Amino acid sequence: MRLKKILLILWMLIIPLIAFSETGERLWLRYNPLPDDVQARYAGLVSVYFEPGSSTVNVARDELNKAFRGLIGGRLQFQDNIKKSSLLIGKEISSKADVDGLDEALKKCGSEGYVIKSAEIGGRNKIIISANTDAGILYGTFAFIRMMQTGRSPGNLNIIEKPKYDLRLLNHWDNLDGTVERGYAGHSIWWNREKDFDDLKEHYRIYARANASVGINGTVLNNVNADPQVLTHDYIEKFARFADLLRPYNIKVYMSVNFSSPAIIGGLEDSDPLREEVRQWWKQKVAEIYDLIPDFGGFLVKANSEGQPGPQDYGRTHAEGANMMAEALEPYGGIVMWRAFVYSPSGDDRAKQAYNEFVPLDGKFHENVIVQVKNGPVDFQPREPFSPIFGAMEHTSLMIEFQITQEYLGFSDHLAYLAPLQKECLESDTYVKGPGSTVAKTTDGSIFNQAHSAIAGVANIGRDINWTGHHFAQANWYAYGRLAWDHTLAADNIAVEWVKMTFSHAPDFVQPVLNIMMRSREAVVNYMTPLGLHHLMGWGHHYGPEPWTDIENARPDWLPRYYHNASEYGIGFDRSESGSNAVEQYSEPLRSMFNNPGTCPENLILWFHHLPWDYRMSSGLTLWDELCYHYYHGVEEVRLMQKKWDRLAGMIDQERFDHVQHKLKIQAREAVWWRDACLLYFQTFSGMPISYELERPTHDLQELMELEFDMTHHN
Ligand code: GCU
Repeated sequence: MRLKKILLILWMLIIPLIAFSETGERLWLRYNPLPDDVQARYAGLVSVYFEPGSSTVNVARDELNKAFRGLIGGRLQFQDNIKKSSLLIGKEISSKADVDGLDEALKKCGSEGYVIKSAEIGGRNKIIISANTDAGILYGTFAFIRMMQTGRSPGNLNIIEKPKYDLRLLNHWDNLDGTVERGYAGHSIWWNREKDFDDLKEHYRIYARANASVGINGTVLNNVNADPQVLTHDYIEKFARFADLLRPYNIKVYMSVNFSSPAIIGGLEDSDPLREEVRQWWKQKVAEIYDLIPDFGGFLVKANSEGQPGPQDYGRTHAEGANMMAEALEPYGGIVMWRAFVYSPSGDDRAKQAYNEFVPLDGKFHENVIVQVKNGPVDFQPREPFSPIFGAMEHTSLMIEFQITQEYLGFSDHLAYLAPLQKECLESDTYVKGPGSTVAKTTDGSIFNQAHSAIAGVANIGRDINWTGHHFAQANWYAYGRLAWDHTLAADNIAVEWVKMTFSHAPDFVQPVLNIMMRSREAVVNYMTPLGLHHLMGWGHHYGPEPWTDIENARPDWLPRYYHNASEYGIGFDRSESGSNAVEQYSEPLRSMFNNPGTCPENLILWFHHLPWDYRMSSGLTLWDELCYHYYHGVEEVRLMQKKWDRLAGMIDQERFDHVQHKLKIQAREAVWWRDACLLYFQTFSGMPISYELERPTHDLQELMELEFDMTHHN
C-alpha cells in the first residue's frame, strides 16, 4: 500500500517534468501558448467550417485543432454551417459563399498551392482557406498555423501561393543496417528498427507533419550508395508501410537503387541497360512496387560514381541507363532522378568532369528523367561557385541537390545556418539567357520548358531526440523546405519564423538569435576554407582540418593537396585559361570575370586561381595576410556568437539553452583548431609571419598533425 502511494507521488512529480521538458522533439510545431496580444488576434476565429474530405484533409483539420488548443488555449468549434463560422476551409467554398476574387485566385495556385483570404460574407468578416486539391488545403492550413505561430495579424489577407518547384524532396542517406552515411544525429529513423514500426508511428507522424508544414512532398528513404537488397520483396513491403503512413501528409516515397540490381538480386548475367532481359527485369520490379505502392514516386540513382556500378560498365551512356529505368516507371507516372555527381581519378580537374560527361547528353533523356546536380561542381563545400551544369542543359529537366546534413560544415556540432548558402547558389546568375538567368530560374521551369521542376536536400535527420543533433540544425531542415516551396524567400525572414516557432517571440531573444544565425555560415567559411579554398578536411572523417594529409596510393582528387596546391610560390587551384580552364564552362561575362584574378570575386579567388603569397588583395594586404585575417575573423565570429548566446540565459528553457551553449563551446575550440592547423601548415610554404597584431596560435603544427581524431564522439 505504502509503496503504491510513493510511486503515485513520484509519478505526479515526474509528469510535469515530462510535459514541460524541451527536448526539441516537437521541432517547430511546439504549439506552446502565444503571447497574449497574439492570442487575442486569433481568439475570434475558433468557429470553423472545415469541409470534409480525404485523410489529407483530416490531417489538416486535426493539426488546426491541435494548434488552436496549444497556441491560444481555445478549442475549435467545428460547424457545418458557413454562416456561423469565422474560418472557412475547403475546396468548394466558392460554390457555397460569394467570395470576391476567389475563383480567379484559385486559378493561380495550381495543384498544391492555396489561397488565404479575408472576406465579408453576410455582413461578417471571415477568413477563407481554399485550394484546388486536398494537398493545397493541407498546405494552406499549415500556412495559416504558421501565421499564428509567428504572430502575423489575420486582418486583410489576400495570399495566393503556388510552390516554385513541383517536387520538393528530402534524400535520406540511410543504410539498411540502420547506419546513416554522413549522418550526425544518430541512427536511421527508418531502417533496422522495423519491428518497432507500430510503436514508432507517433514519431513518424512528427516527421510527416514537419515536412507537410513546409511543403516537402517526397522523401527518398535509403542511401544513394544503394544496397541492392532494397528491391527485394521484403523491403518493398517495408517501403509500402512507410508510404501508407506518409500518404495523408502528401509525401510520396522514393527509392535509391543500385544499377547492378538485375545481376545482384535478379540472378541475371549482367545489368546491361540495352539487353532486353535486363529491361524486362526492371519492368517487372517496377510493377511489383506499384502493386504495393500505387503512388510510388520513383528512383534516385547514383551510377558510375565513386565506385557505384552504372551503364558505363557496359559501354552505355548515362542517358541509356536512365532511360531504361524511365521506361519502366513511365506507365505509372514515376520518375528517375539521375545524379550528375561523377568524377574519375584519372580525369583532369574534378570540378569539370560532371559538366563534360553530362552536357553532351542534353536532350537525350526521357521526359520522366530529371538530372540531379549538386549545387557546386565539387562536393557540398562551405563555399563553392554554382555548378556550371545549371543553364547548360536546356532540353533536360535539371534539379538542384543541397546537403542539409553538415558533412563539411562541422557535423551537428557547429552552428551553421545554411539558408544563406542555398540562397547564394539559387540566386547566382548563370547569364545563360542574359542577365537574371539565376540558378533558381534555370531549374524551376521559368526559363526552360522542362517537364519537371524539382529540388532535393540531403537530410540531417536521425534518431536523436531532437532529430538533428544540434537544435539549430532543425532550422536547416525547416529553411530548406521553405526555400523549396519558394526560393525567393529571404534567409533572414525564414530564420525569424523558425526562431519564433521554435523558441520565443520576445524581440530581445529573436534579434540576437537571428544575428547569430545570419553570420554563422560565413564564420564557418572563414575558419575552414576562406577565399575559395576547399576540401581541406581530414580523409577519414571530413570533420577537422588536415590540409597536409598524404595517404599512400590514394586517389589524388581525394587529397587536400590536389585542391590547395600550396607551395613556396603560392596557393590555390588554377582553373583559369592558363590552368585547367574550368572557367570555360561558365557563360560570359562570368567566364572572363572568373578568369581574371582582378575581377574574380575574392571569396572564390583561390577556387579559380593559384596566386603568389604576396599577391595584393583589394584590401591592400598581401594574400598571406588576408588569409590570416579571414581565419582569425572566423574564430572571432564564433566567439561573438557564443557571447550573444550566453546573454540569452534565462530567456528560454534551460535544457535547450545548455545544449546549444555546450555545442558553441565545441565550435569555438574547433574554429581555433581549424585556424591554427591551416595557417601553421600553409606558413611552412609562405614562410611569412602571422601578423603580430593577431592573437598567437595556441597549437603546434606537429601536435595537430599527430592528433588522432575520434569520430565516435561526433556521430
Ligand atoms: C560525398 C560523400 C559521400 C557520398 C557522396 C555522394 O562524396 O562524402 O559519402 O556518398 O558525396 O553524394 O554520393
